[in-house]
Amino acid sequence: MRLAILSNAGGSGKTTLASHLAYLLAKKGYSVALLDLDPQGSVSLFCGLSRPEANQTIATVLSDDFSGKWPLSPLWEESVNNVVACQGELTLVKTISELTHHPRGAYLLNDRLLDYPLSQQIVIFDCPATLGPLSTIAISASTHILIPIQVEPKSIDGSAKLLEWIYHTCGLLRLNPFPLIMGVVPNQYDQRVAIHRNILEQINPLLQQLNIHCFEPIRYSSEFKNASSKGLPIHLYRPAHAAGKDFYPIIKSLISQLAQEETNE
Ligand SMILES: Nc1ncnc2c1ncn2[C@@H]1O[C@H](COP(=O)(O)OP(=O)(O)O)[C@@H](O)[C@H]1O
Ligand SMILES: [Mg+2]
Repeated sequence: MRLAILSNAGGSGKTTLASHLAYLLAKKGYSVALLDLDPQGSVSLFCGLSRPEANQTIATVLSDDFSGKWPLSPLWEESVNNVVACQGELTLVKTISELTHHPRGAYLLNDRLLDYPLSQQIVIFDCPATLGPLSTIAISASTHILIPIQVEPKSIDGSAKLLEWIYHTCGLLRLNPFPLIMGVVPNQYDQRVAIHRNILEQINPLLQQLNIHCFEPIRYSSEFKNASSKGLPIHLYRPAHAAGKDFYPIIKSLISQLAQEETNE
């Protein structure tokens, strides 16, 4: 499974979702690789890694002289032993312009994964907020897509536009099959806030019309920021915190997809 975490808004919770799913899937016994496709390199911070050396990032993997040796760092070793990350860095900005001119530009990540397969069962792509070349290579390399959104008014129109962009891009890339959009994940949800409840009520039927699943929201908790500043998922930072459970339906859905694919094979 190659899962792209995609959104056209900054701060919607892509890195939070990507890192927490990576942790929980590893905890369930799956092996996971988390690839940071964002020049901001937030995976490093959220996963407690120090700044990578210049030739030890995903930019190296995407360069023409890539040797085939993926730069992977283990994560949360005190708790799990089957999750690694390939770090992102500001040098990805240069990669963006290289991808634009590369004859295989839009397919380069998929090419790398075919030529130099990762051994992990699940590869998660943490995407940038811009729908540019880095999001495009994630789409063309992905089998599944998850879309986190912040519960705020602009997300309603924003998610409709994102879905339009995804379908349009998959068509242009002639992907066959298209990656499966597993659903939208409302994030930073506070049920006491009327506008939050209101937005969920509006988004749900909209997604239903498009036949896209809307997951139960991830609640707002300041502990997410605290946990990420320590490089930990909330499950390790505050093991008893209720927000940790908000990810379970997504994990359940991912595991059932994985099981389904195993049967198909
Ligand atoms: N459910 C949540 N409650 C509170 N803060 C959150 C939640 N999810 C994410 N955050 C915080 O919001 C900020 C943006 O989240 P992040 O995952 O970095 O978004 P993105 O990767 O889409 O830019 C981070 O500081 C993160 O810790
Ligand atoms: Mg991010």
